[in-house]
Amino acid sequence: MKITGKTKIVGIFGFPVSHTLSPLIQNVAFQEAGLDFVYVPFQVKSSDLRKATEAIRVFDIVGVNVTIPHKEGIIDYLDEISEEVKLIGAVNTVVNKGGKLVGYNTDWMGFLESLREDGVSLKEKKAFLIGAGGAALSLGFALVKEGVKTLFLTNRTYSRAENLARKLKEIKGDETEIKVVEFEKKEKLASEGIDILINATSLGMKEKDPPLIDLTGFPPSLYVYDVIYNRETELLKEAKKLGMRCQGGLGMLIYQGASAFWLWTGKKAPIEKMKAVARDYLGV
Ligand SMILES: NC(=O)c1ccc[n+]([C@@H]2O[C@H](COP(=O)([O-])OP(=O)(O)OC[C@H]3O[C@@H](n4cnc5c(N)ncnc54)[C@H](OP(=O)(O)O)[C@@H]3O)[C@@H](O)[C@H]2O)c1
Repeated sequence: MKITGKTKIVGIFGFPVSHTLSPLIQNVAFQEAGLDFVYVPFQVKSSDLRKATEAIRVFDIVGVNVTIPHKEGIIDYLDEISEEVKLIGAVNTVVNKGGKLVGYNTDWMGFLESLREDGVSLKEKKAFLIGAGGAALSLGFALVKEGVKTLFLTNRTYSRAENLARKLKEIKGDETEIKVVEFEKKEKLASEGIDILINATSLGMKEKDPPLIDLTGFPPSLYVYDVIYNRETELLKEAKKLGMRCQGGLGMLIYQGASAFWLWTGKKAPIEKMKAVARDYLGV
């Protein structure tokens, strides 16, 4: 990589930030696209977030990705946010438009694009979303936006699932039927004719994590989606064993990055190259 006086800078704000795959993926994408950009990790403490955001303007940085724990907090320091961010309440991409900082959320786009690539449509479907953190909120938004007929929600902490249901109802009114289910009773949904089941929790990231749910009673037509991208989870292994179609979180990661790439450069990202480098790095 050749850095010159003309090289444009983008990066990521997070704390910690050392685990992120985005610098690897984005730098390969810039190189492949022949763009004189460099993507760097910025470890930013919450107490420094205002100053760090101001520095985007000071250093004429093209934009940044934003990860845990700043996705919500950074909104206060931006000049404008997209319509989706107004609904989701979380930013993962900032674009510096001549000194005006605009916040976007591309996580939900990444999820939808990865499903489209696999030929999965959500319209009028029955979906089961497990989790109620940041990822679940973006995915829940995508699910109601795409017009799922019924959305079942569950979470280890029940009250957080109820909060998520309330938020999603505010976004989509009554068009999607939203039902909260107790975590301990999640296997009972096997007979509900669910089309797609999604893990939006962090369970499965670690080698010794137990399976999230027993899939044996669910129909083989079930599509299983897991946001975890660093390994093949027990959930995906079980789905494959039962002959169910499924995918892990790598597609979502790549496509949210590709949308950010497009927002910063106006160019289409080299998806296959990004996927290949991420797979190679993760050994998946
Ligand atoms: N593929 C992608 O592009 C992508 C994008 C964003 C995030 N992710 C992944 O999504 C996962 C969740 O991220 P997040 O930002 O939503 O995190 P978060 O806000 O911290 O939420 C974590 C969620 O996981 C649940 N959870 C944690 N440990 C659990 C356990 N042992 N059993 C059952 N549920 C458990 C939590 O339940 P409680 O509420 O009960 O604590 C909560 O719902 C992470 O692994 C992250 O890497 C992937």
